Amino acid sequence: MRLKLLSTLLFAGTSLAAGSAMAAGELNLICAADVVICEQMKGDFEKAHDIKVNMVRMSSGEAYAKIRAEARNPKTDLWWAGTGDPHLQAASEGLTEEYKSPMLDQLQDWAKNQAESSGFKTVGVYAGALGWGYNTEIFKQKGYKEPVCWADLLAPELKGEIQIANPNSSGTAYTALASLVQIMGEDKAFEYLKSLNANISQYTKSGSAPVKAAARGETGLGIVFMHDAVAQTAEGFPVKSIAPCEGTGYEIGSMSIVKGARNMENAKTWYDWSLQPEVQSRMKDAKSFQLPSNKTAEIPKEAPRFEDIKLIDYDFKTYGDPEKRKVLLERWDREIGAVAN
Ligand code: F6P
Repeated sequence: MRLKLLSTLLFAGTSLAAGSAMAAGELNLICAADVVICEQMKGDFEKAHDIKVNMVRMSSGEAYAKIRAEARNPKTDLWWAGTGDPHLQAASEGLTEEYKSPMLDQLQDWAKNQAESSGFKTVGVYAGALGWGYNTEIFKQKGYKEPVCWADLLAPELKGEIQIANPNSSGTAYTALASLVQIMGEDKAFEYLKSLNANISQYTKSGSAPVKAAARGETGLGIVFMHDAVAQTAEGFPVKSIAPCEGTGYEIGSMSIVKGARNMENAKTWYDWSLQPEVQSRMKDAKSFQLPSNKTAEIPKEAPRFEDIKLIDYDFKTYGDPEKRKVLLERWDREIGAVAN
C-alpha cells in the first residue's frame, strides 16, 4: 500500500517536473501594431500555451532597426505585425528565418505572395488601405471643405491642421511616401510633400497617432491607414475616414521569425497559431479592423473593403528593397524632415 502511494507520488512528481519544464518556455516578441491588439494577442496566446511572452510594442521602422541592431546577438524571437516593407527589407538583408508554415495554404493570395517573394522569410497577417480620418466637428465649425483627394490636403485653410507620422519610425508614413511616389513619380511626390509640410503641425512617431489626435480634437486630420480611422469612429469619436480619389497604397501587415532566435520552436508555435482563423477573427474585439489573411477568418463589418477603394498596384518588391527604402528615407530627411516645423 505504502509502496503504491510512494510510486504514485513519484509519478506525479515526474509529470509535474515535465510540466514545469514546459512552462519555463518563453517568447520574446516585438509587436508592431496597436497596443490594444498586442495585449490581446499576448493574453490569448499565453492562455492557449505554456509559454510566457515578453512583449515590446514598437512602430514598424523601429522594430526593423532593433532587429538589425541585434543581428549578431538576437534578443527578439518573433516580429509580429507592422507594415510589410520593413519585413521585406529584413528578409533581403538575411535578418529573418525561412519558415514554411503548415498554415500557408489557408491564406489569401496577397499573404502567400508576401511569403513566396521573400523566400518564406515573412508572411502576410493582415492588409489595409491608406487614407485619412478627419474630425467632422472641427471641419464643420471652421467651415473647411471635405478633403476627398490628396490634392485637397494642400488647401491653405488647412495650415497646421494635419498630422502624419515620420516615415523613418512609422510603416504607415513610409507607405504614404512610397504610395505618393508610385502615384505621382518621385520628384512630383517630393514637391507635393514639401507643399503639404506647410499644413503639417506634427510628424509623430507612431502611424496611428495622427488620427487619435484628430479624434480628440487636437488636430483636424490624420493621414493614416483607414482601419485606424474607422477604429476611432467605432470608439464614438466624430471621425470620418476617406479613401483618396486619385488612388492610394496599402499595407500587407507581416510577421517574421528572427534569424538565430533563441526560442525558435516557440516562435514557430506563435507563427502557426496567429495564422489560425479563430485568432484572426478575434482581432476586431481589440478594434483592429484590418482585413485578415486567413481566408476563413471573419472580416470585421467595420473593415474598409478593397473593392470600395481605388487601390494602386503597390510594388512591394521595389519599395521593400533596402536600397530603395534608404534612398527615399534619406531624401525625406533632407527635403522634408530637415525643414519641418
Ligand atoms: O494601428 C495598426 C497599424 O496601422 C497596423 O495596421 C500597421 O501595420 C501598423 O499600425 C503600422 O504602425 P506604424 O506606422 O506605427 O509603424
